[in-house]
Amino acid sequence: MRLDKLLAHSGFGTRKDVKKIIRSGLVEVNGIIIKNDDFKVDENNDEIIVDDFIVEYNKDIYLMMNKPKGYVCANHDRIHETVFDLIPEYNHCNLFCVGRLDIDTTGLLLITNDGAFSHSITKPKKKIMKLYEAIVDGKIKSSDYEYFKKGVIIDDGYKCLPANLELIEEKTDYSIIRIEISEGKFHQIKKMVNAIGLNVLELKRLKIKDLELDSSLELGDYRLLDESEVKNLLHCTPSGQ
Ligand code: URA
Repeated sequence: MRLDKLLAHSGFGTRKDVKKIIRSGLVEVNGIIIKNDDFKVDENNDEIIVDDFIVEYNKDIYLMMNKPKGYVCANHDRIHETVFDLIPEYNHCNLFCVGRLDIDTTGLLLITNDGAFSHSITKPKKKIMKLYEAIVDGKIKSSDYEYFKKGVIIDDGYKCLPANLELIEEKTDYSIIRIEISEGKFHQIKKMVNAIGLNVLELKRLKIKDLELDSSLELGDYRLLDESEVKNLLHCTPSGQ
C-alpha cells in the first residue's frame, strides 16, 4: 500500500496533507526517514512513525490505564484534562473509554477503538463484575453486608443488583472496603456507600471481570492488553456464573 494512502486512512489528514508531512521528513518506516509519498509499505508488518506518533493502521487497540485523579473520561472537555491527554501518541486512533470513572476515581480504565469490545463489557445484560476499593469515612455495620447482598436502594428507590461488600481494614475514623458490582450506574459506588450512611473519601477500580489493574502501572501509565487478556474480556460471561 502507498505510504500517503495509509497515512490518510489512519487519520493524519487528506492525501494532500499527508504528502506534505511525508515530504517534510517527518515519517519513518522501519527507522528510515521516507520522503516519497508513493513509497510502498507493508501495513501489517512495517513500523511507521509520524513525528513520534506510532501509526496503528486499521488495528484494534486495547489499552489498560491506571487512571489518575483530575482527568475526565471523555474525548473532549472544555474545563478538565481528559485521559486522552495522557496518550498523545494514540490521538489519531479514534479511541474511547470503555465505561467511565469519575474525575476523582483512580485505577483500571480500558480504552479502545473497538465498539463491539466496549459493548460486550458495558452492556448491562452482560453483568460484568467490577471490583472497587474505597476508603470511607466511618465503620461498616454488620447489617451492611446483608443489605449489599440483597440490593442497596439508591436514586429514589432503584434497587441495585446484589453486590459483595468486604472489609479490608478498620480504623477509628475510616475504613477500607472492597465492593464488587455487576452494573455501572452513575456514581454507583458513591451512592451505595451513601445508602449505608457513609461517604467515599477515595475510590479506585481494581478489576474488571478477571482483568486486574497491572500493579506495575503508576498513576497515568498505560499499556496495551495482550491477546489473551482481550480474548478473555471479549468472551465475557457474567463472572461467577
Ligand atoms: N462508582 C462511582 O461512584 N464512581 C466511579 O468512578 C465508578 C463507580
